[in-house]
Amino acid sequence: MDILKVENLTKVYGKDTTEVVALDNASFSVGKGEFVAIVGASGSGKSTLLHLLGGVDRPTSGKVFVDGK
Ligand SMILES: Nc1ncnc2c1ncn2[C@@H]1O[C@H](COP(=O)(O)OP(=O)(O)OP(=O)(O)O)[C@@H](O)[C@H]1O
Ligand SMILES: [Mg+2]
Repeated sequence: MDILKVENLTKVYGKDTTEVVALDNASFSVGKGEFVAIVGASGSGKSTLLHLLGGVDRPTSGKVFVDGK
């Protein structure tokens, strides 16, 4: 049972000359009870991903399912 499922998640900030692709088509699942760490260099999109998972920001495209919803 996946408690969290992420499908083709993309986040683009700005547009034209200021465009930044912070997340590029990320997909993964986390099972119930599973322990996961998000690791990456500064600017690789960790906070952006957490904002989308927590619903405090909206993806440019893609979907986040929490407990199937
Ligand atoms: N509100 C925003 N507007 C424009 N660009 C942004 C915004 N937030 C983040 N970015 C850009 O998106 C990319 C990912 O940033 P993010 O903050 O998600 O990285 P991070 O992995 O959390 O970095 P850190 O380890 O420094 O916290 C970076 O290029 C950043 O400059
Ligand atoms: Mg961060």
